[in-house]
Amino acid sequence: MLNELKQKALKEIQGAKDLKTLEELYRQFLGRKGELTAVLRSLKDLPEKERREKGKLANQIKLELENIFNQKKSEIRNLKSEVQDGWIDITAPGILPALGHFHPITKIRQQAEEIFQSMGFTVAEGPEAETEYYNFDALNTPPEHPARDMTDTFWLKNKKLLLRTHTSPVQIRYMESHNPPLRIIAPGRVFRHEATDASHDVQFYQIEGLMIDKDVSAAHFRGILQEFFKRFFGPEIKIRLRPSYFPFVEPGFEIDIKRGKGDWLELMGAGMVHPNVLKAVKYNPNLWQGFAFGMGLDRLAMIKYKIDDIRLFYSGDLRFLKQF
Ligand code: DAH
Repeated sequence: MLNELKQKALKEIQGAKDLKTLEELYRQFLGRKGELTAVLRSLKDLPEKERREKGKLANQIKLELENIFNQKKSEIRNLKSEVQDGWIDITAPGILPALGHFHPITKIRQQAEEIFQSMGFTVAEGPEAETEYYNFDALNTPPEHPARDMTDTFWLKNKKLLLRTHTSPVQIRYMESHNPPLRIIAPGRVFRHEATDASHDVQFYQIEGLMIDKDVSAAHFRGILQEFFKRFFGPEIKIRLRPSYFPFVEPGFEIDIKRGKGDWLELMGAGMVHPNVLKAVKYNPNLWQGFAFGMGLDRLAMIKYKIDDIRLFYSGDLRFLKQF
């Protein structure tokens, strides 16, 4: 009797063409007043042995039917959406999912790192929230220096920390924990509390460089820089050093570059490491010397990609970012 019921149910379920019919069938067999439910209910009046056998079979059939119901349900649903969506053209070209990629600043940083690494420089890092000591004092920047003015620096609430205004503090941190000779670059984000315009933003990126040895001159510096720019921009690049002032170097320079027939563009500060800086990290200035530089990564990217507004890098505008 049970098996007959099962066969009947299976046949009708398989024949169902829509969800409504299927629902009715469910009610007919498995609902509260369904045929199988009635059998399960009547079990309690049977003698123990028969009850156990029949009960087992009935429950098995119940599970089976439920499975078939669910299967049929999704079958009908799939069929429905296929029909609703219309004909599926399997020869139509696929739609490529949008793939992400590196930010232009990241790409520039990676290229610069690669070139410097091939010249023996190691990549170093330091914290973005710095102490006054690393950001200023150890870099021979006395308290009355304009760079320490509150308007340029973002101070954190407790006044013990600030957002680094340049990557130069990494020089100090690295020299404190390593012995000379050394060659490092330190790419990273820096912050300035100032008005924004097409060439200034409150955050931007720099690459710091430092080389310390017994016999390093400004001529070495120029040679390394020339090589870097040649490989980064191509052989048509020209560089020029102008005298300038930074507290942590002596002498200090400003470096301009010129691409082909373009204008001279200011790209970085640099110089020979000031003896006071060497003393701050307990290097003997009579034994060791070197050069340091800090270049604007955003500037580098703007020149390479011919971008005229630094703020575009941080706008999150996909129309801009998708071009790289
Ligand atoms: N820290 C300077 C700035 O942010 C750039 C700089 C100048 C870095 C001279 C140096 C250096 O290492 O020697 O404007």
